[in-house]
Amino acid sequence: MDRRLVEIFPPLGLRITCGPLELRGITDVEVLALLEVVREGVHDADTMPFAYPWTDAPAGELPLDYLKWWWRQMATWSREAWEINLCALWDGEVVGVQGVSTQDFPTLRYGETGSWVGRKFHGRGIGTAMRQAMCAFLFDELGFEFITSAAFADNAASLRVSEKLGYRENGLVWQAPRGGRVVSQRLLLAPEDFVRGPAITVEGAEAVRRLIAADEPEPGP
Ligand SMILES: CC(C)(COP(=O)(O)OP(=O)(O)OC[C@H]1O[C@@H](n2cnc3c(N)ncnc32)[C@H](O)[C@@H]1OP(=O)(O)O)[C@@H](O)C(=O)NCCC(=O)NCCS
Repeated sequence: MDRRLVEIFPPLGLRITCGPLELRGITDVEVLALLEVVREGVHDADTMPFAYPWTDAPAGELPLDYLKWWWRQMATWSREAWEINLCALWDGEVVGVQGVSTQDFPTLRYGETGSWVGRKFHGRGIGTAMRQAMCAFLFDELGFEFITSAAFADNAASLRVSEKLGYRENGLVWQAPRGGRVVSQRLLLAPEDFVRGPAITVEGAEAVRRLIAADEPEPGP
């Protein structure tokens, strides 16, 4: 990774580690490895866990769609609406993505986590470890005051991860990722409810704090 790029866009230099788990900025190396994991499958074809059904794209279109997502979340970065998406590795192998997205963060100080793990890696505790590491990073290093999430009512694995971490139910909304109406459970995690995992180590947080203006006073009401 060329350090000049990290100086300009610090999320690329983030590295969060916790035992066998590493979360790191997504460069061209990681995005191509992630595409291989996507190609092997993220979820059963008869379910759609994502509000935007990106995994339904025809095989010939998905790679370019995926690169466009990767470019877009960097190209549209602003203090008013930013995302940090990190590549997850388990014992050095690329397994999925852990992200967070925010709106008006300098004032609102919360964001929404989202993640996926390649299907062949499900059920090994990786999704739990990823989300625990991300939430610890957001609360401890970036000054988040709440973290939200959401999962469709049939997504038992995601709901279970949220439950294990201490998220509370926070209402229902209806969405139609594949055209038909499905119920989405909204979830909210407060710092005092957070069930932490093992301690994390973080590299690159200071530059990200500056980028997101985490240390500037919140505007008044
Ligand atoms: C959701 C996801 C990230 C979880 O990752 P994971 O590595 O499989 O999660 P973990 O192994 O850490 O934990 C899964 C938990 O769900 C439980 N679980 C899994 N399937 C379940 C089912 N059908 N019914 C009940 N519990 C279930 C597991 O037993 C485990 O709980 P436990 O530790 O108490 O036993 C992963 O399943 C995934 O990527 N799914 C497809 C994409 C997706 O759904 N993303 C989230 C969109 S909201």
